[in-house]
Amino acid sequence: MKERLQRIREEAIEKIKASKNPEALNDVRVSVLGKKGELTALLKSMKEIAPEERPAFGQLVNDTRAEIERVMEDAKKQMEQMLLEMKLKTEVIDVTLPAKKNSVGHRHPNTIALEEVERIFIGMGYEVIEGPEVEYDLYNFEKLNIPANHPAKDEQDTFYINKEIVLRTQTSPVQARTMEKGKLPIRMISPGRVFRSDEVDATHSPSFHQIEGLVIDKNITFADLKGTLEEFAKELFGEDTKTKFRPHHFPFTEPSAEVDVSCFKCGGKGCRFCKGSGWIEILGCGMVHPHVLEMCGIDPEEYTGFAFGVGLERIALLKYEIDDMRLLYENDIRFLRQF
Ligand code: DAH
Repeated sequence: MKERLQRIREEAIEKIKASKNPEALNDVRVSVLGKKGELTALLKSMKEIAPEERPAFGQLVNDTRAEIERVMEDAKKQMEQMLLEMKLKTEVIDVTLPAKKNSVGHRHPNTIALEEVERIFIGMGYEVIEGPEVEYDLYNFEKLNIPANHPAKDEQDTFYINKEIVLRTQTSPVQARTMEKGKLPIRMISPGRVFRSDEVDATHSPSFHQIEGLVIDKNITFADLKGTLEEFAKELFGEDTKTKFRPHHFPFTEPSAEVDVSCFKCGGKGCRFCKGSGWIEILGCGMVHPHVLEMCGIDPEEYTGFAFGVGLERIALLKYEIDDMRLLYENDIRFLRQF
């Protein structure tokens, strides 16, 4: 029996030393120490020895078991250490390598300009309202005092979905939609995309953006319109900016005007930027036509109001001194990064 124990011990230690990986070590554990292992089998055959010798032999088996376990534990530790060293050698991290950069996006100049305009009007108590880009002819033209045979309809030729539905040529239909809702007073701006069948050049695009403005309340006068737009121009282009209202015609406002601002580049002396005139045109505006109020369910005897329309691209081009509108649509990252 003792020889058998001795042999198991020696063979186990030999096998442990020969093990090249944790799996091999585990095989040894199972075959020697496991439930059906050699040591267990040996314990089971204890009855073959004399009863008085059994305790001493049992002790010997336990000692052997403990020894094999210890040798196995050492071998395991060594193996892990080796594996770790191998890993450290092969998986080198070069901390001097430049880090991977997350490229963060950038707001488009149109967006920057729009957010600036929104900030100014929200500051004056305006709401921001959106309207549909695919619009009824009724809202885009009829309710804005532009009947079927009106010459203004030619100027704003667009893309027709069918006889009644068009891609809106202006953000002005949102005026009619807002007034029709019947919640008064109104103080809103409405930014959005508009469409015209225009050829592409440095100042035209078949799709661009406008920001509409509308105020309806009791006792609103042209003075309110002037004051509001003067304040807007100052906030947008600088405290020294002057505004000039030139009489103009829009079918849905009466009286109507176009607004110029003093050239913020030369201060009004005249330069290349303002083509020598000292003034730059920025928007159209006027007092909402009584007939438009009526068509939208508002009593013109009780309420008056003003409206304005700004080209968003025009503001972005002016503010950032960009001389070709096409640059805004090309999405060239080298261009966009500059703002
Ligand atoms: N919708 C006009 C256009 O596209 C711009 C405009 C002019 C809007 C006068 C207005 C306004 O609200 O009062 O040419």
